[in-house]
Amino acid sequence: MTPDEFRALGHQLIEWVAAYRERLPTLPVLSPVQPGEVRRHFDPNPPEHGVPLASVLPQLDEAILPGITHWNHPRFFAYFPSNSMLPSVLADLVAAGLGAQGMSWQTRPAATELEEVAMEWLRQLVGLPPTFSGVIQDTASTATLVALLCARERTTGHGQVRGGLQDEAAPLTVYASEMAHSSIDKAALLAGFGRENLRLLPTDEAHALRPDALEEALRRDVAAGKRPCAIVATVGTTGTTALDPVPHIGELARAHGAWLHVDAALAGTAMACPELRWMWDGVDQADSVVWNPHKWLGIGFDCTAYHVRDPDHLVRVMSTDPSYLRTAQDGAVKNYRNWGIALGRRFRALKVWFVLSAMGVEGVRAEVRRHLALAQAFARKVDTTPGWERLAPVPLQTVAFRHRPPGLEGKAVDAHNLALAGAINASGRAYLTPAVVKGVQLLRVSVGATATTADDVAALWAQLVEEAAALPPG
Ligand SMILES: Cc1ncc(COP(=O)(O)O)c(C=O)c1O
Repeated sequence: MTPDEFRALGHQLIEWVAAYRERLPTLPVLSPVQPGEVRRHFDPNPPEHGVPLASVLPQLDEAILPGITHWNHPRFFAYFPSNSMLPSVLADLVAAGLGAQGMSWQTRPAATELEEVAMEWLRQLVGLPPTFSGVIQDTASTATLVALLCARERTTGHGQVRGGLQDEAAPLTVYASEMAHSSIDKAALLAGFGRENLRLLPTDEAHALRPDALEEALRRDVAAGKRPCAIVATVGTTGTTALDPVPHIGELARAHGAWLHVDAALAGTAMACPELRWMWDGVDQADSVVWNPHKWLGIGFDCTAYHVRDPDHLVRVMSTDPSYLRTAQDGAVKNYRNWGIALGRRFRALKVWFVLSAMGVEGVRAEVRRHLALAQAFARKVDTTPGWERLAPVPLQTVAFRHRPPGLEGKAVDAHNLALAGAINASGRAYLTPAVVKGVQLLRVSVGATATTADDVAALWAQLVEEAAALPPG
């Protein structure tokens, strides 16, 4: 493809994306395709001879689009949002066009230095103290793995350069709440702690980690000769956006010399609003903090902000230094390959720059406040309508609730709510997530798509009431 052909086709594809965004409200939110349906549109063998790319583009509409669940749809209320604002789309286009790979400063100085600027902007946006340094990771899952690896190495005095965990006299233990995201489990297992040394602790009626349970678990482990290594506090759990008490957890971490990692994957964006920062009071005590601009901030997937208090420790844990990667500038610059797991790095800072430039801090705050107000309005409907029950506080933008029609009890209520979620999602008119929290089947309405308006939230509520009434009793 020549630059001229790229220009022509590129304009066509920009138009395609713009038209897609315009017609989003008319598309079914949840993809209706069946397994294998998309694959059948494509030849199982690679084409022997190249064809003009324009000739395959109709497949975008015929094969790809029906197989997309539309995260930027105004009636996307599932999981947590994953917005990709158009400035972010353009930044990704530029990054791909530049096609540069940023494993070290020298291989792409602009990416390294813009990432320094972007992480400083993000730090200030969420009100973290200047003692934190930051790096962009691909996902919160990776960042949490990095955090637990750093915790492990701090506790073992860099055992990785000796016999590693296998040489430790006493097992190292990790703590989080039973509501922590599965990425904490995964990171603890991958970092070699072993399931037997991972404590997922009970929560209170608001689904937040109980510090007394943490204290007791720490005490018991120390008495049994184990070494508390890391505690993960979640600000905004996935199920119900519960807020673990960071100050108390921080005190316990300090008392035991354990690493404190704060997972604010969704809630981080809300910390742009000074009036919400009480939610992560005590975060300044953390050794590491992770949050996802690729969730609610509008920066397209993937872009995770990872802030650490001791970057030298991070670099020591993550560095290998083969001769072929050394450059003349190494002593004077950041080589972000040593701030994470991957060697090669995409130019993600471009989309942080584009989106924050387009929105400004005030724009981010306005979006957060708008979504919070919409969630509160939805929660009021639940609270004031007979037969509906809210199952958790709503500090952020997610409402956890269920329908409890008279005469239904126990498992029948669970089945009814699962069927209700199924009916909403199959309708294509809205998409929400059913979840089980402490054995109770609930529905989650997570408000946060950029396109969502008060009318969309009202329409979802009307549809819930209508579908719930139409379900067969029992
Ligand atoms: C609280 C929390 N932590 C971590 C994650 C994992 O995020 P990622 O997909 O960036 O790994 C999620 C995902 O929703 C989450 O809700």
